[in-house]
Amino acid sequence: MSILKISRLGHPVLLRKAKPVKDILCNEVKKIINDMTETMLDAKGIGLAAPQVHINKQIIIFRTPLIEEEKEIKITALINPKLSKISDDTDNDWEGCLSIPGMLGLVKRYSKIRYEGYDMAGNIIQQEAEGLHARVVQHEFDHLMGILYINRLVNKNAYGYAEEIENFWQKRNDVK
Ligand code: NI
Repeated sequence: MSILKISRLGHPVLLRKAKPVKDILCNEVKKIINDMTETMLDAKGIGLAAPQVHINKQIIIFRTPLIEEEKEIKITALINPKLSKISDDTDNDWEGCLSIPGMLGLVKRYSKIRYEGYDMAGNIIQQEAEGLHARVVQHEFDHLMGILYINRLVNKNAYGYAEEIENFWQKRNDVK
């Protein structure tokens, strides 16, 4: 396995639409997922999309569950994912991105979603998700469309360096 270089904001690879994977079972896809996993863990991220590591394919990975106290880290890889909202309910919360290090922004996402895709073995994964799990999957899915969270800010001022956001925004109760 190898740690891959993560593209950062400004690199055009982040703005491209990723292509569907044709041969899900091929060894190249397994290697990409293994390398993405190592890269995400090294960067201490909770999700990663292939375009972020300069690979123009519809592959995302994310940690589940996302609760810090859970000792066992389970990582889900989804190939050619699709997602849909379960209801129109939305939540606003702070998001970061490994391609925009050190920054946070307040983003509106659907509260409950349904997603599906293939795992490395070619099995269909179908899952419902809410809360942070739903948020991370929507964030990673957006990367496959060439969309970054900074294009979905609730308020263009609700964006900045994590330290300042923690000091000046997260202590306010009226923001979310
Ligand atoms: Ni991201």
